[in-house]
Amino acid sequence: MSSFVPSHLKPYDALTKFIGTRPLEGKTALITGAGRGVGEHIARAIVSAGASRVGIVGRDKTRIETARDRFAAAFPTTEFEAFSADITDEDAFVAIFATFGVPDILINNAGHFPDTAPFVKQDLKSWWSGFEINILGTANVTQKFLQALAASPRAGQTGEKAVVLNVSSMAAHMRFPLTAWSGYNGSKMGQARIFESLRFEHPDVRFINIHPGQIESDGFTASGAPLPPDGMTDGGMAGQFYAWAATKEADFLSGRFAWAEWDIEELKAKKDEILEKDLLLMTVDGFERGF
Ligand SMILES: NC(=O)c1ccc[n+]([C@@H]2O[C@H](COP(=O)([O-])OP(=O)(O)OC[C@H]3O[C@@H](n4cnc5c(N)ncnc54)[C@H](OP(=O)(O)O)[C@@H]3O)[C@@H](O)[C@H]2O)c1
Repeated sequence: MSSFVPSHLKPYDALTKFIGTRPLEGKTALITGAGRGVGEHIARAIVSAGASRVGIVGRDKTRIETARDRFAAAFPTTEFEAFSADITDEDAFVAIFATFGVPDILINNAGHFPDTAPFVKQDLKSWWSGFEINILGTANVTQKFLQALAASPRAGQTGEKAVVLNVSSMAAHMRFPLTAWSGYNGSKMGQARIFESLRFEHPDVRFINIHPGQIESDGFTASGAPLPPDGMTDGGMAGQFYAWAATKEADFLSGRFAWAEWDIEELKAKKDEILEKDLLLMTVDGFERGF
């Protein structure tokens, strides 16, 4: 598959070494859907990069508390807090930010693969539930975070921008010749556009949409997605990319879309081109510019 810059499916030196320098030392992070799958990989990488306190959220209380205990055993010097909540629940996230405090890094990972059949055969209520989780849920968590940030400006305290990373998907922008993906593609594209728009309202926050790669998880298996011809992406490497994206090095990607498989050194080498040509945004091919 073609790529914006050379890419990887497995951990590579430049990224692993950078995470080893603990560039997120002392930072706090809240990660939704971190009890399993992609979210668990991201949580582990964020902690390996130095985060000192990490909140994890999921609907299933037993699963999220078991994950917290697993993380605490693996990373005894890091503080973990587990919250059982649905990301569409407004009151729950007001309470979570009040209890946890305003994190330096928010990672919107919780998501749903809503499709099970071609569009004409879909149960629309089930199809729509994916939009509710992927769009409304992500918007809810992000809005409650931004409201909490306004009341207690984290960026001002640390001298660094707050960070919001969206675990997006290639489905947001790739042209799949596949049936049964209308709900997932549509919801992930809407989610990405929301982040692009928010960057204008909040220049003090770094929003980045990131496709994690194709990673073994309960959700991936249930989605029935075809296996990629080049093989699956290593979840640990994908997690490291999100940790990198939470550092100042990735500031040039603010409001943009990246893939976790992209080589960070190659990507940084394209920084000027990305900014000058205003690349890595959602668009209509052949009609790139608005006004
Ligand atoms: N795996 C891939 O190859 C792949 C590729 C592209 C993008 N993604 C994206 O990566 C993210 C994670 O996917 P995954 O593959 O790890 O899926 P997964 O195995 O289904 O895990 C989803 C996670 O999100 C949580 N979650 C789902 N709905 C929630 C809700 N309404 N409120 C709170 N938590 C909720 C789940 O926990 P509970 O069930 O306990 O709530 C679970 O921890 C998703 O946004 C997905 O679109 C994955």
